[in-house]
Amino acid sequence: MKKSLSIAIDGPAASGKSTLAEALAEKLGYLYFDTGAMYRAVTLAALRRGTSLSDHAALAKLAREAEIDLRPASRNDGRLSDVFLEGEDVTWDIRTKEVDVNVSDVSAVPEVRAALTEQQRRIGLRGGVVMAGRDIGTVVLPGADLKIYLDASPEERARRRHSELVAQGKNPEYEKVLAALVERDKIDSSRAVAPLKPADDAIILKTDGMEREEVLEHTLGLVAERGGPVAGSGYRVGLANWLFRYTFRPLFRLLFRLLCRIRIEGLENVPPKGPYIIAYNHVSNFEPPFVIAFWPYFPEAVAGADVFHRKAINLFVRGYGAIPVRRGEYDRKVIETMLEVLASGRALAIAPEGGRSHDPGLRQARAGVAWLMDRARVPVVPVGISGTSDEMLRQALRGKRPPLTLRIGPAFNLPPIEGRGEDRRAARQANADLVMRHIAGLVAPEHWGVYKPLGE
Ligand code: DC
Repeated sequence: MKKSLSIAIDGPAASGKSTLAEALAEKLGYLYFDTGAMYRAVTLAALRRGTSLSDHAALAKLAREAEIDLRPASRNDGRLSDVFLEGEDVTWDIRTKEVDVNVSDVSAVPEVRAALTEQQRRIGLRGGVVMAGRDIGTVVLPGADLKIYLDASPEERARRRHSELVAQGKNPEYEKVLAALVERDKIDSSRAVAPLKPADDAIILKTDGMEREEVLEHTLGLVAERGGPVAGSGYRVGLANWLFRYTFRPLFRLLFRLLCRIRIEGLENVPPKGPYIIAYNHVSNFEPPFVIAFWPYFPEAVAGADVFHRKAINLFVRGYGAIPVRRGEYDRKVIETMLEVLASGRALAIAPEGGRSHDPGLRQARAGVAWLMDRARVPVVPVGISGTSDEMLRQALRGKRPPLTLRIGPAFNLPPIEGRGEDRRAARQANADLVMRHIAGLVAPEHWGVYKPLGE
């Protein structure tokens, strides 16, 4: 049994912690607990009752006695959870400007914090919870199994908050949103009790320029490292595919050896276990079966959706259980499947060139491959194949026994993709090109095509 972790996610306003916490809880099947909503609910209760915000004793009484309840979202209107105050759904009432401008003052009152912290701790200690706030890692759950401190520049956060408000049909001025946010940060981080700051053992994630999905993937990795559930690792190869693999591999090896002169080099570079990506050059139909037949264990593989319509090949790609991809299209499900394959600790074979080049020379890699590699953050094992061609089978059947070489290079890690917009695209292409240059180093110079090996 995987243990049920308690996870603390802290950070300033609009750092994306609620979004991350909710998505994480959903993936892990944990409870999402937004502690900010409790401070907001107390503020709303005080405003409604006309309680003076300087009357600390009255605020503390409210915090102790108000019936606040957080439940999973019951409606699909953009909410991350339902918030109830005295049985009334106040999910949106606690997000008004009036609450926004007063909540930091209310949450600075030590007696209010004491009352709410106690309730939060009681729930947090049970485990199986992702708790978002300002002081979860430092005060509420100092023993949390994983502490994340999410941060981003005030401008980035104001941009996000601004677009959220616009999406809700409001028309705020960006400058005002930014000013309000900076003011809230100031109060939250300078208050005497439980000020906003990362715990000593928190992992600080600066999310400027990062997509939500990337932050989530990264955090899921951290959860897995701490012995929590490995979300998305449900990738299973079917029994029929296993039977096919074990039946056909010896046959393929035999055929390759009979028809060609096979050389396999660099087997010592094959990592003992996944996850990693095998990146190979793709000239003809023969590279994928060649890699799969001689790899020390079975990697998962990607195949262009069109080959599933080509009769003979279809039998093999389906039998093996290859993942069909539509070239040049963004297909969320397929990407998730590939990430699942890697999350479950397997090797995944991909041709960065996208499809067969029909020419021994390497051609330009697709940037999308680098995107996937960046999201998966796993090592890449480069593979260079020389000797394959569209005519190979014909030559082989004439008894020519053409030479066929598979060369495996050492695994390497790609630099993270940084920047925004155009810079980001360029960084992706640079990473895809880097993979190809590793491959170029493993094939004969006449196969280099548009790439040169590193150092050339
Ligand atoms: O995350 P939020 O914007 O909904 O939080 C509202 C306010 O509550 C914020 O100004 C700081 C405060 N807060 C806090 O002091 N401690 C927490 N654990 C969560 C929120």
